[in-house]
Amino acid sequence: MNQAPEAILLVGGKGTRLRPLTVRTPKPMVPAAGVPFLTHQLARARAAGVEHIVLATSYLAEVFEPYFGDGSALGLHLEYVTEDEPLGTGGAIRNVASRLRSGPDDPVLIFNGDILTGLDIEALVATHRSSGADVSLHLTRVDDPRAFGLVPTDETGRVTAFLEKPQTPEEIVTDQINAGAYVFRRSVIDAIPAGRPVSVERETFPELLSSGAHLQGMVDSTYWLDLGTPQAFVRGSADLVLGRAPSPAVPGRRGDRLVLSDASVAPGAKLTGGTVVCEGARIGEDARIEGSTVLAGAVVEPGAVISDSLVGAGARVGARTVLSGVVVGDGADVGEDNELQDGARVWCDAVIPAGAIRFSSDQ
Ligand code: GDD
Ligand code: MG
Repeated sequence: MNQAPEAILLVGGKGTRLRPLTVRTPKPMVPAAGVPFLTHQLARARAAGVEHIVLATSYLAEVFEPYFGDGSALGLHLEYVTEDEPLGTGGAIRNVASRLRSGPDDPVLIFNGDILTGLDIEALVATHRSSGADVSLHLTRVDDPRAFGLVPTDETGRVTAFLEKPQTPEEIVTDQINAGAYVFRRSVIDAIPAGRPVSVERETFPELLSSGAHLQGMVDSTYWLDLGTPQAFVRGSADLVLGRAPSPAVPGRRGDRLVLSDASVAPGAKLTGGTVVCEGARIGEDARIEGSTVLAGAVVEPGAVISDSLVGAGARVGARTVLSGVVVGDGADVGEDNELQDGARVWCDAVIPAGAIRFSSDQ
């Protein structure tokens, strides 16, 4: 039997994508179904037999190590490498090459750090071994591929082009996209130029293709979500709780709700659709919360109605306030009798007085 490969997890970048969450915790550490999001990716890799994972980080690296340590709590051996300046996806992969133990022809798994998926990791590795590819990519199909890397393949699954973030309608030649999980032959990693930013999507893949390298795609229609927006993050967390997104790291049973220790839920409050109530949060009487995440220490007062929203750590949502598709930042205070709709972002520590905001479509 072949041993599972070691893996690289990409959790860096410019960090700008953290801001839309308005919560203070860096995105990979924001709880999804009650544990830092990264835990799900680490636990799924472990369940597929992976033992050694190198985290390639470029910002706020100091938040990962104190929490995950050497990884032994998850049965893993974790290492951390921090870039001085973000090196891009390819540069980050090359930058951790010295930590790999694999031989030149061995497979190495690489994961984007912001993906929630039911990918069969062992099947991707098996595809890689049987096709003899230099790089194998997990592909998924999406309705609107413009925010992703487009990856057309031939009838055997061999990749014919890689088009990152296509700009023109002519470039949209397929609905298959790069799902952010790869197997690289180790020697391909060593061949990425060192010491400068490299995008694996814009530079490495196109160059490999034009030099005749074998890139193999594995289309898989399992659960897949890029957690790039707060809405996606809340959706992913709810899907973990509901059991739609598989992860061995969800604490507690799958179901309509997950209420963590020391959280209190008053009688008559209704939590549905994969709602998570984190440590020490308090939910008042007759509040109705659907498909949402309430972070640690937050307070939701009686009669509030919340759906598809994230309530930040220590925030307060006043009585009878209605939130739909909203992010309330850490420590923010939304007074009673407000109504906030899709896309509203309440900044950390901001204060909205009682009865200040109503929504009207003016139709
Ligand atoms: N260490 C490190 N350093 N990591 C980085 C850097 C960097 O400079 N830049 C990005 N990353 C990490 C991010 O943290 C993320 O986990 C992953 O690499 C991908 O970067 P994103 O910034 O999230 O890219 P994207 O979502 O726009 O596009 C990527 O993912 C899509 C699937 O969600 C591309 O790989 C697309 O081709 C793909 O379709
Ligand atoms: Mg992303």
